[in-house]
Amino acid sequence: MSDLLRVIGLTKKFGDFTAVDGIDFSVARGEVLGFLGPNGAGKTTAMRMVTGFLPPTGGTAIVDGFDVRIHPIEVKRKVGYLPEGAPLYDDMTPSEFLTFVANVRNIDGADRDRAIDSAAGQINIQHVMHQPIGTLSKGYKRRVGIAQAILHNPDVLILDEPTDGLDPNQKHEVRNLINEMASDKVIVISTHILEEVDVVCSRAIVIANGTVVADGKPLELEARSSFHNAVSVRVSGATDSLADKLRALPMVGKVETSKIGDGKVSLTVFPSRPVNILEPVSECLRELSVTVEQIHVERGRMDEVFRNITTTTKS
Ligand SMILES: Nc1ncnc2c1ncn2[C@@H]1O[C@H](COP(=O)(O)OP(=O)(O)OP(=O)(O)O)[C@@H](O)[C@H]1O
Ligand SMILES: [Mg+2]
Repeated sequence: MSDLLRVIGLTKKFGDFTAVDGIDFSVARGEVLGFLGPNGAGKTTAMRMVTGFLPPTGGTAIVDGFDVRIHPIEVKRKVGYLPEGAPLYDDMTPSEFLTFVANVRNIDGADRDRAIDSAAGQINIQHVMHQPIGTLSKGYKRRVGIAQAILHNPDVLILDEPTDGLDPNQKHEVRNLINEMASDKVIVISTHILEEVDVVCSRAIVIANGTVVADGKPLELEARSSFHNAVSVRVSGATDSLADKLRALPMVGKVETSKIGDGKVSLTVFPSRPVNILEPVSECLRELSVTVEQIHVERGRMDEVFRNITTTTKS
């Protein structure tokens, strides 16, 4: 198998409670895997097992051929990990902290300086390298956490909510960084920000109650949404019968309307089958001489898909 990361039947029980219940997935070099799921789904627990910080109750993870239960040291060498909340030593400066991490990882001398310079440069923290971590803003603390995760240029990068609590600019920067690093690594990121999946992930896994309930490309997951291929349109000069006329079109299922003031109406026209109905809807609007201000075909709504998948599987 060429997959750099393989997770096989991974299970964790805390007493009688099963937090992770036999999950399986494989990730190839170049893939960025989104790890989604509601609070308590088991994402962090699974990540802690994959990175060798928590022993599994059953199953295992294999990183570049090394089984985490048998070769945890080799796995830790190949894996970079940003833990949830990115705990750091507040009294240390980033420079001291990264030196400490380099020492733990047995990176010495010139290699150590090079590794720290490279990680600090990639993550853009050079100007705060000598300021105590406790005095840095949340965004900079997170960057220091990511710098420690990439210090040894790992093949596999596991990032537990890397953009949690960051401002929009910082989120954007972290996402860019993930995209830049993606081509020669496996990156797994957990997130509650569903639009992040579109922007950075080539694939997403949804976990609920410790099991994998969906696994696919973002577009495939979005295609499960009732909004997939729906046409959303904002018009002015609409008559009351507009929705009925649209509903009467072949291949159209339901039509939802809402008035948005100024005589404008917003409509969502849903196809009755998974087909593109943009052409007949546009044609109908032209014939009725309504003014179309905006029109677009929906790809699907990840939040709806997420809700459906993660609430219907609850026991
Ligand atoms: N050490 C532990 N002892 C007992 N239960 C635990 C322990 N660690 C985690 N759990 C439980 O396992 C479940 C999964 O927790 P986990 O932190 O993996 O969820 P998560 O998917 O990361 O959630 P979130 O989105 O809130 O970060 C939760 O019910 C949690 O309370
Ligand atoms: Mg978590």
